[in-house]
Amino acid sequence: MKKIFSGIQPSGSVTLGNYIGAMKQFVDLQNDYHCYFCIVDQHSITVPQDKVQLRKNIRSLAALYLAVGIDPSKSTLFIQSEVPAHAQAGWMLQCVAYIGELERMTQYKDKSTGKEAVAAGLLTYPPLMAADILLYKTDLVPVGEDQKQHIELTRDLAERFNKKYNDIFTIPEPRIPKDGARVMSLVDPTKKMSKSDPNQKSFITLLDDPKQIVKKIKSAVTDSEGIVKFDKESKPGISNLLSIYSVLTNKTISELEVEYEGKGYGDFKSDLAEVVVNTLAPIQERYYQIIESEELDRILDEGAERANAVASKMLKKMENAMGLGRKRK
Ligand code: AQP
Repeated sequence: MKKIFSGIQPSGSVTLGNYIGAMKQFVDLQNDYHCYFCIVDQHSITVPQDKVQLRKNIRSLAALYLAVGIDPSKSTLFIQSEVPAHAQAGWMLQCVAYIGELERMTQYKDKSTGKEAVAAGLLTYPPLMAADILLYKTDLVPVGEDQKQHIELTRDLAERFNKKYNDIFTIPEPRIPKDGARVMSLVDPTKKMSKSDPNQKSFITLLDDPKQIVKKIKSAVTDSEGIVKFDKESKPGISNLLSIYSVLTNKTISELEVEYEGKGYGDFKSDLAEVVVNTLAPIQERYYQIIESEELDRILDEGAERANAVASKMLKKMENAMGLGRKRK
């Protein structure tokens, strides 16, 4: 069976962008692939986090993976910091990466621009992400478009390592959804929707209640034309809402344009809010059954055990290839 790895940072509450761009695909993929789904908490500390909130976010993200339909009997669900091989392999890959290529990463530039003190980890985050992926001989990484550059770097690092030390890594491919690969902010539709955006109105979280969802969608920035038509360049706001509507209902954008011809943005937004509320209702119901359960801890313990067994084998191969420590089997 081919392998899939995907991670989400517990850097806030999971957004509709994370769901559409990444999580939504996971459920079907677990039937055809051996999947590793990871809560990448070590990535989230590349920017400041409140420790109490971080712990809550980690547990909440784990429960959300299960609530959207990840089945622990098919997939391995685990927390990155509970598998030490990630940080160890990440260090080795930092020593394979060049500063120049890390400085070219757009996410690094976006998150560091204008900041007075930038953690070194923000720059060296992509080799840790490469380690996450390469430890599991991953074939495919289902991600949103924003992560494409990091996957390309992962491929470069794997190829460089294979050539220089030993041919041990599988070269992974990104799997980017055809629709909804980049869900945009509801406040500034030229910017991607992000869970760490300080403006709460810019995103919908998977745990927002119906009232919040209706309010956020009603106040989403559009334009003054009032015509429901997809035009990413001159109508980015309504185009973003059309994409969300289309992905969640499987109706095409053209079908939606016809359906809303002659109707204003008000009707369109009310219907979209209903679609989002109905999509999230069953996820929220399952989430609240799981979040406080001991079953969640059992699943995470088992996931960490399974992940540790696989990752530590690849770590040994990496150490042997680079000549670290003593030769071990
Ligand atoms: N707006 C988006 N549209 C589609 N997909 C998205 N993803 C993120 N934002 C969008 C995808 O969600 C997965 C998890 O992302 P992550 O938590 O690893 O980090 P990120 O890409 O940096 O996501 P955020 O929400 O923007 O987090 P913060 O604010 O902490 O930086 C990835 O597959 C990503 O592509």
